[in-house]
Amino acid sequence: MANVTVIGAQWGDEGKGKLVDWLSNRADVVVRFQGGHNAGHTLVVGNQVYKLSLLPSGVVQGKLSVIGNGVVVDPWHLLEEIAKLGGQGVNITPELLVLADNACLILPLHRDLDQAREAAAVNKIGTTGRGIGPAYEDKVGRRAIRVDDLRDRDALEAKIDRLLAHHTPLRRGLGLPEYDGAQLLAALEEIAPKILPFAQPAWKLLDGVVKSGKRVLFEGAQGALLDVDHGTYPYVTSSNTVAGQAAAGSGLGPKGPGYVLGIVKAYTTRVGEGPFPTELFDEVGQHLGTVGKEFGVVTGRARRCGWFDAVLVRQSVALNGIDGIALTKLDILDGLPTLKICVGYKLRGETLDYLPAGLKDQSAIEPIYEEMEGWSESTAGATSWKDLPANAVKYVRRVEELIGAPAAMVSTSPQRDDTIMVRDPFQD
Ligand code: IMO
Ligand code: MG
Repeated sequence: MANVTVIGAQWGDEGKGKLVDWLSNRADVVVRFQGGHNAGHTLVVGNQVYKLSLLPSGVVQGKLSVIGNGVVVDPWHLLEEIAKLGGQGVNITPELLVLADNACLILPLHRDLDQAREAAAVNKIGTTGRGIGPAYEDKVGRRAIRVDDLRDRDALEAKIDRLLAHHTPLRRGLGLPEYDGAQLLAALEEIAPKILPFAQPAWKLLDGVVKSGKRVLFEGAQGALLDVDHGTYPYVTSSNTVAGQAAAGSGLGPKGPGYVLGIVKAYTTRVGEGPFPTELFDEVGQHLGTVGKEFGVVTGRARRCGWFDAVLVRQSVALNGIDGIALTKLDILDGLPTLKICVGYKLRGETLDYLPAGLKDQSAIEPIYEEMEGWSESTAGATSWKDLPANAVKYVRRVEELIGAPAAMVSTSPQRDDTIMVRDPFQD
């Protein structure tokens, strides 16, 4: 099957949006399969910058784009994002965008709950405050409102009652005002005619797409270390972010994801709380943050920065079944005299070659570093290996060796075309 799945191999913000945008001219359909508008994908095309949180990045290239059932959808945000892109000349119609009719909705009460918990918590997760976690809770709790429910006012009313039976005591406990079910019903009724034209059985559409030999590009959000099972729990997001989720979150079956392209930043960043073994608190960390413009697209928070952690990415290669990586932001390392790569961890006198599951151990491990000589030349904008200084090539080779996956691409600036292509994932 000629499909490609793009996922983040670290803690998100690896540059997935740029690679999806770049690959989407080889694809027929682009699909989001998990997460919600907590994602922040930046696409730079010439002098236009597009910032997407919920829409699949394929919309910018005019590719058929699908928000799959695995995504939690804030319908008001969806309309805002459509309007924002419309203002940038990208006209999003139901011919271009499909919303899975069985996707669950994020409602204002989810955002309230997310923010109130974060405000009250001693151990904050550092969420994006957009209601993602509470919406997924209601999904697995079998009380969520789904896109298709917007079609039936009477059923919707009963579903809102059921939902509020759960939320009312929760809100009371957090000191939030009582939620008005009638108001929610009215708001959903108002928005329904704007949302429903996009809704259809996305699994069926995708089944047809694949049977006719067309190519699907799956766009992951967040990263493997934020996966609710495999990440640094509880400092994770509330969905499975690994490549396997592309199947369940779209309805395309286990062969659907195809070639798995892991997006890997040439160093490490994380936004929000939680363990981060190679985090730097010195000038190098500051350099990475400033030169790398490491500020969240969604919340504007400064990202924590550190050296490349090969142990984490090797784990990610296994968890996602990564076939090849796209290494991004190599140019941010330009000019650093010495580079460090984490090749193992020390924990209570023992050496580990993986990230242990327990939070206590994850916080206690110390990185074991290998040092490499940096390069002084600029790699920004390079489009072939011969444009790279020898030490930069050495760095990429060492990364490949340590993580056990080849570089299919190296991205050398946010611009769409500044990419070294080693192999086309659609051709693999
Ligand atoms: P992209 O797709 C980086 C992080 C939040 C927080 C944790 C839980 O741009 O890579 P949530 O709001 O999801 O419940 O927050 O997950 N987080 C991200 N970090 N990039 C993202 O998306 C993220 N989406 C969520 O900062 O630590
Ligand atoms: Mg982000």
